[in-house]
Amino acid sequence: MNRRHVLGALGLSALGAASFGGLGLASPHGQTGELLRSRARLPRPYTLPLPVPRIARPVRTDATTDFYELVQHDADQEILPGLRTRVFGYDGTFPGPTFATRSGRSIVVTHRNDLRVPVAVHLHGGHTPADSDGYPTDLIQPAGRRDYTYPMRQRAATLWYHDHRMDFTGQQLYRGLAGFHIVTDDEDDRLGLPTGDRDIPLMITDRAFEEDGSFRYPAQHHGAGVTDAHMEGVLGDVILVNGAPWPVLEVTAARYRLRLLNASNARRYRLGLNPPRTPLVQIGSDGGLLERPLEHAEVLLAPGERCEIVVDFGAFAPGDEATLRNGLGSGDTREVMRFRVTSRGGDDSRVPQQLSRIEPLRPDRAVRTRTWSFRRAPTGEHPAWLVDGRAFDSERIDAEVRLGEIEVWRFTSDLHHPVHVHLDPFQVLTRRGGGPGPHDAGWKDTVDLSPSESVEVAVRFTDYPGRYLLHCHNLEHEDMAMMAAFRTS
Ligand code: C2O
Ligand code: CU
Ligand code: CU
Repeated sequence: MNRRHVLGALGLSALGAASFGGLGLASPHGQTGELLRSRARLPRPYTLPLPVPRIARPVRTDATTDFYELVQHDADQEILPGLRTRVFGYDGTFPGPTFATRSGRSIVVTHRNDLRVPVAVHLHGGHTPADSDGYPTDLIQPAGRRDYTYPMRQRAATLWYHDHRMDFTGQQLYRGLAGFHIVTDDEDDRLGLPTGDRDIPLMITDRAFEEDGSFRYPAQHHGAGVTDAHMEGVLGDVILVNGAPWPVLEVTAARYRLRLLNASNARRYRLGLNPPRTPLVQIGSDGGLLERPLEHAEVLLAPGERCEIVVDFGAFAPGDEATLRNGLGSGDTREVMRFRVTSRGGDDSRVPQQLSRIEPLRPDRAVRTRTWSFRRAPTGEHPAWLVDGRAFDSERIDAEVRLGEIEVWRFTSDLHHPVHVHLDPFQVLTRRGGGPGPHDAGWKDTVDLSPSESVEVAVRFTDYPGRYLLHCHNLEHEDMAMMAAFRTS
């Protein structure tokens, strides 16, 4: 251990004592993470327009499959007005292009890596064969390429793709390697929900910037992972939506479908409209449509989670503004984006009372219950974050699971840990021994665990045998070994 590490460890022990002393004390702002402040001059909120990522186009199609090609490379992007930020971009943009695919129609995406670092691509929420799932050690080396095959045998849902390189996911995603992947199907099309330019994906991230506009990320000096000071998670002081700081979207006074994604490394959000003139009507979660719409005043969103809502701006008059605010922020991180209502719009969209049917995964049919604990390592030990007391080992399988069987998985936590499972979504059964929470409805692939919480979910994996991950989606925790592997057969 060098002197820096000793100091880091001492710092941690003080922090550790405070965190573990009382449950409430662990996360004064509903966060597990440390704020990193920008050194650049920041714009005032609500002065820049919301960008909407372009749709990726296939380079070739045949009877069953669409073929895409993407190049990962650096590019300069103007994120803060007048400054250039060097991003790692899918096709050189942050966010990357949006995939718009159809349930049942397979795609192949060829990724070429023109970055100077290895990468791995994961389709989060994808029902994907193991060799295309982006295992953290299945890397594309610089100048290399790889084909990822996605059968898309899954229902309509808002997925996203992002980097998954072992020990570097936090910093590589922070530099821009993330994009949307939206799956549509007939069921969703038939409902009459808002479509076209009234169906908008919103990728919410937080970042900190250096004085020259570059991203500020506290990587360790040997490169991998994050410094001890930020091992709880990196929280930025600028909120970006689709890569723009606190943007504005002009809307007509009509219903909009907003596909919310929290692609932040560690920050959690509690999103609400101000003024709260109309409810946030949740129609979908990670794994697609809910059975019935759910009205919320605010929605909670942990890293990795998606929530689809319909907002009826018809409750506002032309000239009004509605601000999306974050109840878990402070100062400018309380602000997210603004909607400016420009005109009355014709609106023949609707939100039916029955959206879909969800087959319940019945826990009484479960063949076993497994417990997975998500906890910090004893003070001063590295790596810092463990699943079941063990650091991730890419050569080890932590659980063997049979395809088609229902299991109950019980996740337990010390601090905030958004737990994500690859391959198939799950259903939340209990939270702290009671029923599921207000944000647990539908098919989930990421579940937000609060400090000292226990959440039970029903899982059932189908189709693909192989090696998959479950992990904490706080990316600093993930990079510091909070992952485990299961093998399906
Ligand atoms: Cu969104 Cu394993 O990741
Ligand atoms: Cu995933
Ligand atoms: Cu965690």
